[in-house]
Amino acid sequence: MTTTRLLACALALPFSLGIAHAQQTGEADVRSARVLASNCASCHGTLGNAQGAMPSLAGQQKTYIVEQMRAFRDGKRPATIMHQLAKGYTDQQIELIADFFSRQKPAR
Ligand code: HEC
Repeated sequence: MTTTRLLACALALPFSLGIAHAQQTGEADVRSARVLASNCASCHGTLGNAQGAMPSLAGQQKTYIVEQMRAFRDGKRPATIMHQLAKGYTDQQIELIADFFSRQKPAR
């Protein structure tokens, strides 16, 4: 590689990374919310519509989900499993997950 090309690369790289980053913000939140929420599907059902006795999350109030997740995490709400799961998420991730489920249509 010539010095000129090397220089061109060095100049172009941060620039192209900057552009790519700008295009992803906004949509990135929606995508990561969906990925995070899929971790809940095995118990709370596809898109939050649970089977049987498991509580559904689809169409729940966002604030309700956020408060329950924090209560589980902080040991304020007794749980069989959620107190352990809730510890794996940051406040920001809980917000994204709660927002996602609050926008899903409840099946029943
Ligand atoms: C292994 C199964 C399992 C997974 C995975 C799971 N949950 Fe739960 N969830 C439960 C159970 C069981 C309860 C009832 C409380 C308890 O015993 O832990 C519950 C209760 C809840 C409640 C309270 C519902 C209500 O009506 O008060 C919320 C909110 C909740 N889960 C959110 C989530 C979120 C968000 C995820 C994904 C990050 C998730 N859960 C993943 C099993 C699960």
